[in-house]
Amino acid sequence: MLEEVPILRKTIEERLSSISDLKSLEAFRLEFLVKKGKVQALFDRMKEAPVEQKPILGKELNVLRKFVEGAFADLKEKFESQASTKSKIDLTLPGRTHSVGTYHPVYQTMEQMVNIFVEMGFSIAEGPDVEDGYHNFDALNFPPDHPARDMQDTFFMKNGENLLLRTHTSPVQIRVMQGMTPPIRSIMPGRVYRNESINARSLAEFHQIEGLYIDKNVSFAELKATMMVFAKKMYGENSKFRFRPSFFPFTEPSAEMDITCFLCGGKGCRVCKHSGWLEIVGCGMVHPNVLRNGGIDPEIYSGYAFGFGIERVSLLKTGVDDIRLLYENDTRFLNQF
Ligand code: PHE
Repeated sequence: MLEEVPILRKTIEERLSSISDLKSLEAFRLEFLVKKGKVQALFDRMKEAPVEQKPILGKELNVLRKFVEGAFADLKEKFESQASTKSKIDLTLPGRTHSVGTYHPVYQTMEQMVNIFVEMGFSIAEGPDVEDGYHNFDALNFPPDHPARDMQDTFFMKNGENLLLRTHTSPVQIRVMQGMTPPIRSIMPGRVYRNESINARSLAEFHQIEGLYIDKNVSFAELKATMMVFAKKMYGENSKFRFRPSFFPFTEPSAEMDITCFLCGGKGCRVCKHSGWLEIVGCGMVHPNVLRNGGIDPEIYSGYAFGFGIERVSLLKTGVDDIRLLYENDTRFLNQF
């Protein structure tokens, strides 16, 4: 029987640690402290114990009872005084601080990119997030049956007026051309939307920076040089990149620039789909039809355009391997940048 005392004490201690209010304290009292409680039950069974154990058992049980009564009284006082002071102000509590917001990593990246292009002489322009089909597709030389026009890829507005959430920042090119005479050097940062499934690499809402350069005798070599200067400023002199031929309806010829994957350093991994490279920008020479739609004579002028995905650039810069983390708004994550 003697060994039952520490076992009961352990149970009691465990129960004590989970008492959080007067109600659970009362349940505790009914279980251990009343006449039919578990402590008294041991006292009642003292007569069963061997004679030589009785004195020591009595002593242990008294210690236990004192302990339970003491702990009960302490908690009772604590909860009662809490209840009575609930509405009063406790001047000893530490003050509540208000945290000051910081720039989101995507906006930090955007600002960095914008600054690099502004240094190179580009001005900043903006266009609407809710676009019409003309600016988003037709003026950019998309054929009428292009898959991007499909409901599956584009969010259309319900009112049926051919309004949609822009799928890229390229429609701003048209607006800039229509409002200016060359030379034009503009970058157009903004939010874009695509009806895509969300995964570690892509979101349905993200950011791009569009660039447009139009003047007499602009060449592909200038486009390449601009992209390389940008990449070196953004990622350092030793960063490695490559150009690949590509296709966009609004540029001809078209290319994409890749940069060495930040995660594996080019060895190949999940993030770069085992190619060692990550695509960060689509670009090319502005298609003559697009120049015409922008009110610019392609016989006199030529130009290049490019479009960066800002989140991609931000991931490359920060080493974060899942784009979704950027928008969970967990301040523990965001505060690292
Ligand atoms: N608009 C293209 C896209 O969203 C990127 C791009 C912009 C390509 C300008 C060429 C020129 O993928």
